[in-house]
Amino acid sequence: MTSVPAWQRAAYNIAALRELARAKLPRPVFDFGDGGAETEWTLRRNEQAFSEQALVPCPLQGAAERDLSLTLFGQRLSMPLLIGPTGLAGLFWPDGELASARAAATAGTAYCLSHGSVCTLEALAALGTAPRWMQVFVYRDRGFTRELTDRAAAAGYHALVLTVDNQLLGNRERDLKNGFGIPPRFTPWQLLGMARQLPWLWRMRHALPTLTFGNYVRPGSRETLATLAGRMGSILDPGMCWDDVRALRERWPGPLLLKGILHPDEAAQAARLGIDGLIVSNHGGRQLDGAISSFEALPAIVRAVRTTHPDLPILLDGGIRRGADLAKALALGATAGLIARPQLWGLAVAGEAGVAHVLEIYRRELDRAMGLLGAATLRDLQPRLLAGSYPNLTAMPG
Ligand SMILES: Cc1cc2nc3c(=O)[nH]c(=O)nc-3n(C[C@H](O)[C@H](O)[C@H](O)COP(=O)(O)O)c2cc1C
Repeated sequence: MTSVPAWQRAAYNIAALRELARAKLPRPVFDFGDGGAETEWTLRRNEQAFSEQALVPCPLQGAAERDLSLTLFGQRLSMPLLIGPTGLAGLFWPDGELASARAAATAGTAYCLSHGSVCTLEALAALGTAPRWMQVFVYRDRGFTRELTDRAAAAGYHALVLTVDNQLLGNRERDLKNGFGIPPRFTPWQLLGMARQLPWLWRMRHALPTLTFGNYVRPGSRETLATLAGRMGSILDPGMCWDDVRALRERWPGPLLLKGILHPDEAAQAARLGIDGLIVSNHGGRQLDGAISSFEALPAIVRAVRTTHPDLPILLDGGIRRGADLAKALALGATAGLIARPQLWGLAVAGEAGVAHVLEIYRRELDRAMGLLGAATLRDLQPRLLAGSYPNLTAMPG
């Protein structure tokens, strides 16, 4: 019998893993991953919205065996949870993106690479992990959007994700307070107080000096991560509009998803334009503080889209911290969920093994929740299993 490592025993759920990650990372790095915009109301609301929705089990349906698998864009996934795009994952563990992609592939699910990965999209593709998705933005220089799209196609990415809620950078006040910059620099005082974070510093000793946004660096360019990060706010175009979506639709031959959709009108318009999937998201509360939580935005989007496009995949991210949260989202009509921060916490604690553990926690929790609900397949997760569907059942207080 193989013994379970101590960190795995301590990381018995996602909240416990977050605390382990907090202890292992320098404060500015932990806060960069953990934080949200301004008052962080939306960040908190993402999790709270799930906790206010009660489940109504129907256990006599017989769910001795649960099947968590689904087919998404023609590819079989072992469970309805994917790893979403997370810039600078390589700050949490050397080659963090590669580690997460390997863990996702081993778990039988998809990994979406961020525009702002430390590795290049070609380096990740060279791993051969699948399914792999690529996330892009609309740049003032539309040529660069086309270039990234073409590179993703050439490297065999299976789906393209256009993120639409990041054209102006959110006001992340924890970063301001901590003086967090990219790449992070630490004052002598901060370094002195880092006894518990020494393993991270040591592990990152080669990665930190060379940290960069891999996809943006052109051969021979003198641009550093600091200048790139400084420019990031000005290279994205807040004037992005539906013409850009149409142009990308014409250029990208595979599945195209829009990430950052919260309004049912935009969801319906995307479906009309032939977009293949939506990701209901507020960027984890990192962009517009005060924006509606993803879970609360979901029902109107499902209604707006599914009457005309019954099979259009609607994914959701933001605050999924339990398998039961995922069950609630699926019961409301989501096809699958994505996680970002929990993956970073897994990386910080144990690299690829940490991310594998994260995915396993969600798998176990979802499987148990489905068994207790009486849902043998994902299709059995229906609104009737939610208290909100019954006028005479009140939702659980938060
Ligand atoms: C550190 C960090 C970096 C992120 N970078 C990106 C990114 O490059 N592109 C993107 O579309 N979303 C990015 N996101 C947003 C996530 O994909 C996701 O929408 C959000 O974090 C909600 O999921 P969560 O609550 O599980 O973290 C980032 C999130 C975090 C925490």
